[in-house]
Amino acid sequence: MSKDVTILAIESSCDETAAAVVRNGREVLSNVIHSQIDLHTLYGGVVPEIASRQHIEKINQVVEKALVDASLSLQDVDAVAVTYGPGLVGALLVGVSAAKAIAYGADKPLLGIHHIEGHISANYIENPDLKPPFHCLVVSGGHTHLVHVKDYGEYEILGRTRDDAAGEAFDKVARAIGLGYPGGPKIDKLSYEGNPQAIAFPRAKFEDSVYDFSFSGLKSAVLNYLNSCEMKGETVVPADVAASFQQAVIDVLVGHSMEALKRCGGTRLAIAGGVASNKHLREAMEAACRERGIAFYHPSPILCTDNAAMIGAAAYYEFIKGVRSGYDLNAVPGLRLGER
Ligand code: KG4
Ligand code: ZN
Repeated sequence: MSKDVTILAIESSCDETAAAVVRNGREVLSNVIHSQIDLHTLYGGVVPEIASRQHIEKINQVVEKALVDASLSLQDVDAVAVTYGPGLVGALLVGVSAAKAIAYGADKPLLGIHHIEGHISANYIENPDLKPPFHCLVVSGGHTHLVHVKDYGEYEILGRTRDDAAGEAFDKVARAIGLGYPGGPKIDKLSYEGNPQAIAFPRAKFEDSVYDFSFSGLKSAVLNYLNSCEMKGETVVPADVAASFQQAVIDVLVGHSMEALKRCGGTRLAIAGGVASNKHLREAMEAACRERGIAFYHPSPILCTDNAAMIGAAAYYEFIKGVRSGYDLNAVPGLRLGER
């Protein structure tokens, strides 16, 4: 039997300072997340400078707690992995610098990991039977990607958003109807009280790509609806707006995913990213998959949001392939999936 591989992973690409210890890519020994959400809520969104400063304050405590929770010392880990892109440059730099210092000090290999690869790999943690190839819909605050996972670390992007990410649209619409930040979970909750058919919002389609997404037109349609109600003196029912907007997003996400599976002959679909914890999306995707005999996978909400366990999961498959980063590893804010 081959030796166990234990990885200390660090994630600081946006507003969560996180560290985790993961064994063999699937077993989470610890998963520590310090969320800065309360700080950023005051400003209605993530303030990059505040995020970087908070990461600096918290990173050492979070890493230490991850080792303590796993009952391990630094000498017990086989490698140190860190998200090096995409994300906010100042935020990424804190995690990258910490990981480099820790790896150098403890004389351990260093691995730079792609944030989206992490989100996709979160699915491996609770689904021991899930192995590539499969399809994955990545929906977060910064990304909307429909990906064919051909092998570990091998991705073909079938479609992506041409403007706003799905989570970004949730956040902007939530702000417009007065729900505050972060909007996704609030729209998810309020939608239970609303009628998803109350308002006919648009579902964007492209002539030249069946898989690409666009959410900025939908966001504008919601804003126009709110303005026109105000001008006409009509009452707005926030729950109906939330439910109708959410349904429009879900219809597109489910529709594109099913089309991809049909055209590619795929039999397995996973979802990932912050928006993947949306209960209505999960239910709709699960129902669509069941109807077509497709196996459906999704991480628990704590593994959908930004976390380091997902980085440890992705890092394992890179580690066993022999991938290593040098001490010249840098933050790459616009890093593309599949690029090193
Ligand atoms: O993956 P994530 O934690 O950070 C990024 O990498 O962006 O995703 C955060 C996004 C936010 O836009 C948030 O509003 C959205 O995920 N989100 C949700 C839900 N929970 C979080 N969107 C819809 N429904 C939810 N339940
Ligand atoms: Zn993320």
